[in-house]
Amino acid sequence: MLVRGGRLIDPIAGIDALRDVRLSDVVTEVGEHLEARAGEEIVDASGAIVAPGFIDMHVHLREPGNPEKETIETGTEAAVRGGFTAVACMPNTSPATDDLESLRALLQETLARARCSVYPIAAITQGRRGALPCAYAPLAAAGAVAFSDDGDGIADARVLFDAATDARFVEAPFISHCEDATLKVVDESLAEAAAVARDILVAGATKKRWHLAHLSTRAGVELLRFARAQGVAVTAEAAPHHLLCTQAQARAMGAAGSVNPPLRAEDDARALRDGVRDGTIDVLASDHAPHTAEQKSAGAPGFSGLEVAVGAYASALPDVSLSRFVALLSAHPARVLGIPGGTLQRGARADVTILRDAPWRVDAASFASKGKSTPFDGMALSRRAIATIVGGRMAYRA
Ligand code: DOR
Repeated sequence: MLVRGGRLIDPIAGIDALRDVRLSDVVTEVGEHLEARAGEEIVDASGAIVAPGFIDMHVHLREPGNPEKETIETGTEAAVRGGFTAVACMPNTSPATDDLESLRALLQETLARARCSVYPIAAITQGRRGALPCAYAPLAAAGAVAFSDDGDGIADARVLFDAATDARFVEAPFISHCEDATLKVVDESLAEAAAVARDILVAGATKKRWHLAHLSTRAGVELLRFARAQGVAVTAEAAPHHLLCTQAQARAMGAAGSVNPPLRAEDDARALRDGVRDGTIDVLASDHAPHTAEQKSAGAPGFSGLEVAVGAYASALPDVSLSRFVALLSAHPARVLGIPGGTLQRGARADVTILRDAPWRVDAASFASKGKSTPFDGMALSRRAIATIVGGRMAYRA
């Protein structure tokens, strides 16, 4: 395949220029005005942006256990339509991904059925019950790229500390869901700040590599900034709805506006955007959390994120350079998870996201995802994926 005439953005190679890219299952050539070869599929990318495949490191695929919300097929179809060539999937499934048997079963299913690469995240505690640690080294060796009890924080600080000490020499990071359940009922903002403070202290004390999921408050960003200034190995992500939406939208959606952590004040959203701009927040991740319409109207927390994420990030951060934008969605999540990606240099995996900067309107009813609930429904966004190439094969084309 020859991707021709696009503006190639490769943050690792430091390229922002018109370039053609030749692909087999890896990148075979990058250059100017490459001649087409007999039988080669030509992809015209003129006027478009060509980037290393985007990675969404926070996705709920809902299998096993809840195929009424999403399946591996519908979730990864939503991913490629949204411009993602890889996703990492959270273990809050039934059963949870918490041992070798459940991890291997999930890997087997995703290898057979997914439309993009899928990297499983395993639980920190058995059954995500917050008590007994999982077997981190064997799980990482078998393919778990991170560990998280996402959906819930680990209430007992000692359990978390011991787990982190146990996992200290395993490269795959811990990912924390920063909400203190006991404080959430009194003050939802304090619930995040308290959990972030505790987890960065545990990260610093145990030297475990750490990542904070869906940061959503000004206090959370400021605490993260403090931790990084102290040299703690902690990274963090922001989700599209927290970057661009506020409580007002949540209220307008009624029960369907529920999400954990919740939509916050405009000042929090501004602090998150500033955190992305100054490099405190290193990853953009959607927290794609699909539910059925019935479940949403009964208050199930979470939005369908994969098919709006790229447009929402661009609309939230119009002043961020393309090179940084691409890095936040490819090189940075690849580095956090220790997976391939983030560059289109010769020999790299042929995972490519092609984008166009043009306004488009979100129509949630047309999502490939089974989850149709999003605060972005009907909104005009400013950027979108027009083609997604996974392992050298066209997985989506607008
Ligand atoms: O709103 C949310 N929904 N936040 C989470 O952390 C979990 C997710 C889900 O699994 O539905």
